[in-house]
Amino acid sequence: MLVFGGTGDLALHKLLPALYHLHRDGRLPADMRILAAARNVLNRAEYQALAERRCRAQVARSDFDNDTWASFAARLDYLAMDLSQSAEFGRLARFLGAHACNRGRIYYLATAPDLFEAIAEHLAIAGLAGSDTRIVLEKPIGRSLESAREINAAIGAVFSEPQVFRIDHYLGKETVQNLMALRFANALFEPIWRAGHIDHVQISVNETLGVENRGAYYDKAGAMRDMVQNHLLQLLCLVAMEAPVRFDAESVRNEKVKILEALKPIAGLDVHDKTVRGQYVAGKIGGQEVPAYYFEKHVDNDSDTETFVAIQAEIDNWRWAGVPFYLRTGKRMAKKCSEIVIQFKPVPHRLFEGSQANRLVISLQPEERITLQLMGKSPGKGMQLTPIELDLNLAQVFPQKRRWDAYERLLLDVIEGDSTLFMRRDEVEAAWAWIDPILKGWQDNYQDPRPYPAGRNGPEQANTLLELAGREWED
Ligand code: BG6
Repeated sequence: MLVFGGTGDLALHKLLPALYHLHRDGRLPADMRILAAARNVLNRAEYQALAERRCRAQVARSDFDNDTWASFAARLDYLAMDLSQSAEFGRLARFLGAHACNRGRIYYLATAPDLFEAIAEHLAIAGLAGSDTRIVLEKPIGRSLESAREINAAIGAVFSEPQVFRIDHYLGKETVQNLMALRFANALFEPIWRAGHIDHVQISVNETLGVENRGAYYDKAGAMRDMVQNHLLQLLCLVAMEAPVRFDAESVRNEKVKILEALKPIAGLDVHDKTVRGQYVAGKIGGQEVPAYYFEKHVDNDSDTETFVAIQAEIDNWRWAGVPFYLRTGKRMAKKCSEIVIQFKPVPHRLFEGSQANRLVISLQPEERITLQLMGKSPGKGMQLTPIELDLNLAQVFPQKRRWDAYERLLLDVIEGDSTLFMRRDEVEAAWAWIDPILKGWQDNYQDPRPYPAGRNGPEQANTLLELAGREWED
């Protein structure tokens, strides 16, 4: 496996710790080697030392031991190269030639997307893109439909679609996969999983983190391109899609694309009514003062990049007509919490005072939990109703199992060549086709992003979006 961008945050913070865990669990092919490549001038030992420092910080102490690290580090090599220069790939080819490889090679592009096209082309010119290779692309693929198409075309000119793995790490999360199990392995929900019974759906991915040292990237991307175009839309697809015929790459992805294509366009003045764009200003998180976004490292002082987005989406199909899907994501929010809320409609005829409609809450993180809110009777005389919960904490249900990081699962899928949990070309493009008019609407009817103090769940306008319809966010 070659990791381009091997000194970047993604490689050191996510990929190497995930590979270390897989190695420790004996899941990596015995002869698999990992070559990191980046511009920094380091030798092999220096890279191994850097990787060790970062993995030690990332991996639980109980999972890290020196012998395992030594055997993992033996797989690890480093090549300093400028990825934008074609000639450097000749050097890479010679380096690889000196290390015979009987298996296919995996290229992991943990770089900025503007390098994707060049890297694919350079690999082809250097004769490194044979049919036994695979390429993994990190999101976001491009920054608009047009640029995504260009990237996809450039990649497609070198690699066939089954060789391409477009990663969205949310699909590697246990609870996200559990959502499919919940929907498609239980007969209970299917009859009521539709407009007739569901009032609305909320999908929130709230983070307390700011942009850390990713300001340079984030300031150009913003929450819409960084989170909504990929993670939130993927979650929406899994909630809304029809049951695939089989659990395989084509069947699952066919169903997801249908949902993306059925998303009702939000364009022109509708953008103002159905979306909220926010940016955090100074505030407090867990008692700690944090600075405004525009004072973060590598962020422009007059930046108008959004760190928060809320959208009222709708799906124009038979199952979901008229059911709003409220999407929300933001940095520096009150609490780290990703969850999906299915709000059912009230009972058709209210027999009892105080009865509330049922809610199914699927928490993805920090806890993996599925909670069904029901109404019950308080003990004693009379029919005093009270909300009660069927509460399934998945960490408690499977206490003996180590929780895999999403990247572990997905890296293993790439190694095994299973692309079920990866985004197909048309899927990425369909997602951009829906996002583009919103971005355009923001530009054409420009308004500064709504400020919200760090430590709050976004600007007030995000609450209004629901309140106007007599609803509220589950917080
Ligand atoms: C990444 C985004 O894809 O997902 C980050 O680029 C974000 O900005 C991260 O912080 C969130 O992932 P998770 O797994 O921590 O919810």
